[in-house]
Amino acid sequence: MSNHENSWTRLKELLTDLEESESVAPVRKPIDSQHAASRLDLALPEKGIDFDSFMGKLKNLALATPSSASKQFFNQLFAGRDSAAIIGETIAAALNSSMYTWRIAGPQVIIERLLIRELNNIVGYGNGEGTFSPGGSISNLIAMLIARNRFDPNARAKGFNITGTIYTSVEGHYSIRKNAGILGIGRNNVREIHVDDHGRMRADLLEEAITEDKKNGIEPILINATAGTTVRGAFDPFTEIGLIARRHGIWFHVDGAFGGPLLMCEQMRRRFIGVEQSDSFTWDAHKLMGVPLTCSVLLVKEKGTLLHNLYEQAGYLYQGDEDEIEPGMTSIQCGRRNDALKLWSIWQVRGRVGYAEQFSKLLGLIRYAAGIIRNDPLFSIVSEPQSLTLCFEVVGYCSRTICTKLEEQQRALVGFGNIDNRVAIRLVCVNPEMEEEDIAFFFEQIRAITKECNLESR
Ligand SMILES: Cc1ncc(COP(=O)(O)O)c(C=O)c1O
Repeated sequence: MSNHENSWTRLKELLTDLEESESVAPVRKPIDSQHAASRLDLALPEKGIDFDSFMGKLKNLALATPSSASKQFFNQLFAGRDSAAIIGETIAAALNSSMYTWRIAGPQVIIERLLIRELNNIVGYGNGEGTFSPGGSISNLIAMLIARNRFDPNARAKGFNITGTIYTSVEGHYSIRKNAGILGIGRNNVREIHVDDHGRMRADLLEEAITEDKKNGIEPILINATAGTTVRGAFDPFTEIGLIARRHGIWFHVDGAFGGPLLMCEQMRRRFIGVEQSDSFTWDAHKLMGVPLTCSVLLVKEKGTLLHNLYEQAGYLYQGDEDEIEPGMTSIQCGRRNDALKLWSIWQVRGRVGYAEQFSKLLGLIRYAAGIIRNDPLFSIVSEPQSLTLCFEVVGYCSRTICTKLEEQQRALVGFGNIDNRVAIRLVCVNPEMEEEDIAFFFEQIRAITKECNLESR
C-alpha cells in the first residue's frame, strides 16, 4: 500500500504540473515527429527503470503533448477536462472490469443499462436498447451492419453479395464511407447527397437519388442523417428524411455523434423534430458531454435487434446465470472497457439540468464569436453557425496559414475545413470552462498574426 500511496501522490503532482503548464502556455510548442522519440527518450528499455525516472519521462511526454484541455483549444469536437469524469475513468481502470457479464462487472452493468435507458428516453425511443462502443464511427458501423443484415437476411450466415446503397449527405462523416467498405457494401455504393446553404441534406435530392437507383434495379439499405455535421454542425431535416425512409422501407439512422447531446437543450429541440422516427441513433459522450475518450453508444429503437445481429454462443463466457442481463451478448466486442462509469460520474455532478445550461452557454459563446466576426471587416463568416461550430475566413489570408501560425506561435489550436470549395477556419466551442474573454482573446491572436504577416510582406 505504501508504494501505491507514493504513486498516487506522484500522479497528483503530475496532474498539477500539467494544469500549471497549461495556464502558462495554453498551446504546446509543436514537436517534430521525426525527432519526438529521441528528444523525449521514449525507447522501450531492455531492463526496467526506477519509478522516479519513469515519472520524469512520463512528465516530459505529457508536457510535450498537445493539450485538449486548454482554453485556446478549438481544434476538435471534444475539449476540456472534467474532474468527476476523470475520477470515474480512474476507478474504472482500477476495477478493470470487462463489460461482458454480470458475473465480472456486477453493478457496473446496471450503470450501463441506466444510461442506455436515459439516452433512449431523450431520443424518443420508448422501448429501445443500446450498446456502448469505442466511438461514433463504430456506433455507425453497428447501425450499418444491422441495416445490411435486414436488407439481406442471409448476409450474417452466408456472406453478403447483393448490391445495395447507402445515402448520406456530402457533409456526413467519413466513417459512413469507410464502414461501407468494411461491411462489404462497397464505398462506391454510398450516395453523397448535396446540401442546402446551411449544410443540411436536401431531402428532395435524396428522394430523387433513391428513385433513380431503384429504377436501375439497385435497392437502398440505409439512409444516414446527421445531427451536428462535423464541420458546420448542421442538422439534416429528420421529418422529411423519415418520411422518405418509411415510404421506401429503408433503415433510417441518425449520426448524432457530435450534436446528439444537444437534445438535452430546450432551445435546440426544434432542430431534432422527427428524430424519433429513426431506427437507430449514434450518441457520443466523449464529445459534447466532456467525458474522456472513448465513450459512445448506439441506440436502437426496437428491442431484440442487437441480440439478433450480434449474439454468438460462448459456453466459457455466458453460463446461463444472468443471460437476461449479459451486455456482451449485444456487443460487437468481447473484452470491453467500462466506458459507462465516467459518464455516470459526470452526470451525477452535472445532472440533466447542468448539461442543458452548459449547452445553452456554449451556444451563447458561438453567438458572441459571430458578433465579433460581423463587427470586424477583417473577418467574414463562411457559413451561418448551426450549433457549436463557426466557420469563417480572415479576409485576404489563407485559412491554413493562419491556423499553422497560431499553433507555431503557441497562441491557439484551431483547425480548418472545406465548405463549398472554400477553406474556412472552424472554431469549435465545446469546452464548458470557456468564457467570452477566451473567445475575444482568440480573435486578438488572429489580429496579431495578420499584423505580423503584413510586416513580413513589406
Ligand atoms: C458527425 C460525426 N459522426 C461520427 C464521428 C466519429 O466519431 P468518433 O471520432 O467517436 O469515432 C464524428 C467525429 O468527429 C462526427 O463528427
